[in-house]
Amino acid sequence: MQRIGVLTGGGDCAGLNAVLRALALALQQAAPQVELVGIEQGFRGLIEGHLQPLAAETLRDQLDEGGSLLRTSNRADPFAWQGRDVSGEVLARLARERIEALVVLGGDGTLSLAERFARRGLPVLGLPKTIDNDIVGNERSFGFDSATAVVAQALLQLRSTARSHDRVLIVETMGRDSGWLALAGGLAGGADLILLPERVLGLADLTLALQRVLARQRHAVLCVAEGVAWPETGALWQTLPDGVRRLGGIAQALAAHLGTALPEVEARAVVLGHLQRAGPPTAFDRLLCTRLGVAAAQAVVERAWGQLIAVQGDRLVRLPLAAVAGQSARVPAEHEWLRAARALGALL
Ligand code: F6P
Repeated sequence: MQRIGVLTGGGDCAGLNAVLRALALALQQAAPQVELVGIEQGFRGLIEGHLQPLAAETLRDQLDEGGSLLRTSNRADPFAWQGRDVSGEVLARLARERIEALVVLGGDGTLSLAERFARRGLPVLGLPKTIDNDIVGNERSFGFDSATAVVAQALLQLRSTARSHDRVLIVETMGRDSGWLALAGGLAGGADLILLPERVLGLADLTLALQRVLARQRHAVLCVAEGVAWPETGALWQTLPDGVRRLGGIAQALAAHLGTALPEVEARAVVLGHLQRAGPPTAFDRLLCTRLGVAAAQAVVERAWGQLIAVQGDRLVRLPLAAVAGQSARVPAEHEWLRAARALGALL
C-alpha cells in the first residue's frame, strides 16, 4: 500500500472539496493500491498529528460543497511554529506514518511551504488554489471564478440601492496585492469605476472621474481591491484582535475622503469579506477542480513530484514548484481585461 497525504492550506475557497473528490475517485480507478490520508487544518495537522484516511466514497457527493472538509489554516508555518522550526518533526511524523508524498492544495504561502519541504527531500505536488488568482505561471487558480461570481453579483445587486438613494457605493474586494478579483468582478458586475493595487491611486483623478459618472447617472458603484495603496501612506492594514494584520479599510477611507471632497455626495463602503471565499463553486470551478484532481491523480501514479499543476490557456501543465513558489502574479499592464475596463471608462 502506497500512502499519500493530502492537505488544504491557506484561506478556504470554493472548490477544495471538488478537487479532493476528483483526486480520490481518479486514484480509486487508476491506482487502488494508493491510500489517501487526509491531513486536517493544513500544515497544522502535520505539526499536531491530525491525520485520517480519506475514503473515496465519502467524497463522491462533495462536488459542490463549499469550504474544505479537511479544514484549513493560513497561520501554520512548520518552519516558524510558536517560535520554533518544527519541520524536522513534521518529516519524522510523515516517515512514521509511512506517508511517502504530499499533495498540497494551496496558494502562494502554502506552496512556498511545500517547496521548502521539497528541498528537504519530501516528494510534493501542488495544486493552484486561491481567490486571488496570483500564482505565478498559472492563469487560473480554482476558487477564483466562484469568488468573481460573488463580487459580480454583489455589484449588480448593489446598483439598485445606489440608484434608489443617489449614493456612491464603494465595494471592497479581497485579492491581497493583486487586482485580478476586483478587475474580473468589477467587469462582470458592471462597476462604474474599478481601482486596482497595480495602479497608483490619484485622489484628484478619482474625484473627477466620479463627478463624470454622477453627472451621467446620479449614482455610482465602485469596485476597489483591498490592496489599493492610499497615496503616500501605502496599503491600509487592520490588526485583528489576536494581533494578526490583514489588508482592509480602503473602501471606508475612500468613502470618508469622497464625502469631504464632494459634500453633496453620500458615499458608503461595503466590504464583501469572506463571502468571496464561502459557498459552492461555480460550474467553471467544478470543471477546473475536477480536471485538476484527475491530473493530480495521474501525477501521483507517475510519481511526478516537485511540480505545480497549472492552467495555461486550455491546458493543464506541470511546472517546477521551485520556479513558481514564493512569488505573486499581479495584473500585467497591458492585460486585455485592463484594456476592456479602460475602453469602458472604468479605469482611472
Ligand atoms: O489569500 C486569500 C485571502 O482571502 C486574501 O484575499 C485576503 O487578503 C486574505 O486571504 C484574508 O485572510 P483571512 O481569512 O485570514 O482574514
